[in-house]
Amino acid sequence: MGREAMSVLVLENVGHAFLGRTVLEEIDLAIAAGELVALVGPSGSGKSTLAHIAAGLVEPRKGRVTRNYRRHAVVFQEPRLMPWATAGDNIALGLAPSSAGRRQRRLQLQSVASRVSLNAEDLAKFPSQLSGGMRQRVAIARALVADPDFVFFDEPFTALDVALKRRMQDLVIETVAHSGLSSLFITHDLAEAVRIAHRIVVLDRSGRGIAGSREIPLSPGLRDDRTVFEIAQALLAGDALFAHVNEIDERMRA
Ligand SMILES: Nc1ncnc2c1ncn2[C@@H]1O[C@H](COP(=O)(O)OP(=O)(O)O)[C@@H](O)[C@H]1O
Ligand SMILES: [Mg+2]
Repeated sequence: MGREAMSVLVLENVGHAFLGRTVLEEIDLAIAAGELVALVGPSGSGKSTLAHIAAGLVEPRKGRVTRNYRRHAVVFQEPRLMPWATAGDNIALGLAPSSAGRRQRRLQLQSVASRVSLNAEDLAKFPSQLSGGMRQRVAIARALVADPDFVFFDEPFTALDVALKRRMQDLVIETVAHSGLSSLFITHDLAEAVRIAHRIVVLDRSGRGIAGSREIPLSPGLRDDRTVFEIAQALLAGDALFAHVNEIDERMRA
């Protein structure tokens, strides 16, 4: 069986340019069913562009994208909620208009809201009445409510505080493990990537191609804090693939 046949998402020789400036040159990437791939790389290297091309939001200049999943959802870095709709109605926007009956839709909505720890009171509020973290949880619920089998995450937890970030990472780990979801998860946080991913893919410095990829030992749910710390340290200190990831961290600390 070919690699493509076993993969839910395949990018072959994908390249793109904005206004004549090359952003991605030759991207080859395949994601297997049930696999969460974390994509890391310097800011401006083309991670979001790659995700937008993979999700069909941007037409690439060259190359081929094959999607073998049923339905995808996208979670962006900022929540992108409709300001005139309540949190509940924003989540319901993720449901196809024709899908199921009213009662069924309400149950789906309640179930996904509880998974992101939003209660009935929260759901009645408008985005302007919610904290940044709550708005992002609404966006995650909107993505999950349609029961996607593939989710694109583009640095979704950057704005969240440490505790909430952890809870949302656990939700992703659980969802991937229990519903067989596959995912491309963009992050610049290597510890986050090590915590939640099966495999980490690194965009090269200039973002033109995939520099390499590393499988992370153990299942995501089985890595405790110490293990995550040790794996991340080992990658940063001893794996040349992550040398420039370290440089970004230095820059960000400065
Ligand atoms: N719509 C656009 N028009 C022109 N240039 C863009 C557009 N989107 C992104 N770029 C440029 O392409 C490069 C890659 O951007 P992006 O994919 O957002 O990188 P990343 O997500 O890794 O930070 C950047 O230099 C950015 O300025
Ligand atoms: Mg980006």
